[in-house]
Amino acid sequence: MIRKEYLMTPGPTPIPYQVSLAQAEPMIHHRTPAYTEIFVRMVEGLKKVLLTSNHVLTFAASGTGAMEGAVANCFSPGDRVLVAVGGKFGQRFAEIAKVYKLSVELYEYPWDEAADPEVIAALLKDKPDIKGVFVTHSETSTGVVNDVKCIGEVVRDTPAILVVDSISGAGALELRTDEWGVDVLVTGSQKALMTPPGLAAAAVSAKAWELIEAADSPAYYFCFKKARKKYDSQSPETPYTPAIGLVKAMSEAVELLLAEGLEEAWERHRVLALCTRDAVRAMGLELFPKALQGAFAVTAVKAPQGISGGDVVRHMNRVHGVIIAGGQDRLKGKIFRIGHVGYYNFFDMVVALSALEMTLTALGHRLELGSGLAAAESRYMELTGSARP
Ligand SMILES: Cc1ncc(COP(=O)(O)O)c(C=O)c1O
Repeated sequence: MIRKEYLMTPGPTPIPYQVSLAQAEPMIHHRTPAYTEIFVRMVEGLKKVLLTSNHVLTFAASGTGAMEGAVANCFSPGDRVLVAVGGKFGQRFAEIAKVYKLSVELYEYPWDEAADPEVIAALLKDKPDIKGVFVTHSETSTGVVNDVKCIGEVVRDTPAILVVDSISGAGALELRTDEWGVDVLVTGSQKALMTPPGLAAAAVSAKAWELIEAADSPAYYFCFKKARKKYDSQSPETPYTPAIGLVKAMSEAVELLLAEGLEEAWERHRVLALCTRDAVRAMGLELFPKALQGAFAVTAVKAPQGISGGDVVRHMNRVHGVIIAGGQDRLKGKIFRIGHVGYYNFFDMVVALSALEMTLTALGHRLELGSGLAAAESRYMELTGSARP
């Protein structure tokens, strides 16, 4: 049988055809008016997506590049920072901070829960020399979404800056960078921004620029000051050769997202998450996160008794061509994750859920075929009003 694949992971994610076509256009040079126009359109569009009027710097890198840039540019060796760790990507921030020889205070919270803003407030009070607080908005490894708005309120009136990884949140979940007091917001191209992997972005506030001016950790490729200077020049550009094809692609993708409407996109993600949740529960499965508030980017599901999450992922891929993600780190084998962050609509979820029902049945989990789909359809009709004639 012909193999057709359905990419349902929380990154990389499917690409709209308009975005793919933009990448396929003939190569242009990056120091030309034609490129400048596309580049500026992308950056200014990203500002609208992130709801910021701060500088948005872009780099040819996956999201981790912007995470490293945030650490390298804002702090000096020995600076005390607080890193909230409730999953693999929180851990990554802590690892990078250690590489740059910062003094890292860890706030470790359970992987199925969200960070508690009150704990962050207490830690900041206890150690007033903390210069930065690192938080993961959407912790893709667990499905949990942190309350960045509340955390922003806690950090705002302290000397510390708030650094947020919204690599799997921006464009999918409510995110108000400036209003919420996010000083450095980092994101990447391959999730809700509907672009292939390889572009990273960082939105940087005035409070963060003050730290950047004073910091002396080494940064070369990811130097924020150099990137800002180049963007502010007569003809906005990047210090080094940009990923021209990706910039064209992301410029197109950002336009598509803004044409849909930010709040409409957030609502689409909420609806898909709620339908997926209901479906997996109807299949007799349990969601991994206890904290489900706003957890709309990825649905993390506990593997049923006696079945490995890895087997679910492998069977879905091999037999049905549906690619989902397994658990990472300590969750390996214990969970599987269905992505709905990015270019998805309800019928993509139907494909994933149908393949999941058949996979679970084949692996020995008892369920009534169609029960998950029925639950998803009912919820969809209820949430979107499509029950009305
Ligand atoms: C929340 C989060 N942070 C960081 C990363 C790392 O980004 P990248 O793989 O683009 O470097 C990811 C990617 O999955 C992510 O989801």
